Amino acid sequence: MLCGRGALIHFQNSKKTMLSSILPNDLSVAFALDSACIAGRPMVERRLSDLRGCFADQAAYEADLAVANPLLYAVTAVEPASGDGQLHYGLGILYPGKIGEEYYLTKGHYHLHRAAAEIYVGLRGQGMMLLEDEASGESRLVELRQNCCVYVPGHTAHRTINTGPDPLVYLGIYPSNAGHDYGAIASRNFRKIVLEHDGKPFLTNR
Ligand code: F6R
Ligand code: ZN
Repeated sequence: MLCGRGALIHFQNSKKTMLSSILPNDLSVAFALDSACIAGRPMVERRLSDLRGCFADQAAYEADLAVANPLLYAVTAVEPASGDGQLHYGLGILYPGKIGEEYYLTKGHYHLHRAAAEIYVGLRGQGMMLLEDEASGESRLVELRQNCCVYVPGHTAHRTINTGPDPLVYLGIYPSNAGHDYGAIASRNFRKIVLEHDGKPFLTNR
């Protein structure tokens, strides 16, 4: 899906990025907090049907999907330059809801370039990030909400979870060479899940 009119396609020198080589409308970008839309940029949408295998309660997943296929989240990526040392960022919106007792969540991934870290900045709503260290399998559940930053180290799988009643809106800022590796998580999923218990998020084993 495209936000507004006209997608911009441009190419960057991958060796050295000059200020003059950045398009003016990549230097300052306005965004909408109610839709995570950025005019003219392609937005990736993930519906319930795209998250098959992500939720622990598969019967609840199939039952909900038989009724409707709602939009769970959308991400608009901004890629001003791709040379050495440059940054990309994504504006995400994750809607509220649950499958069984498990909150709506993103697929989750490692970065293809494993050493690449990422910073998440919470802009609206309340949620959590589930982090999982690739080598040790250690899990951490950390808060992501408005006025809150989360540091995702390299070599760490990360998944965003909306634990509140409103859309969770955030920016993820990462090295331009980070890339996405969805394969490892798609095949074995995260070790932990976050369920609602007495109205509060609760981390437990899958
Ligand atoms: C980029 C990043 C975010 C996610 C977004 C959607 O490295 O971490 O922009 O891409 O939160 O989650 P996934 O990509 O796991 O579907
Ligand atoms: Zn990431």
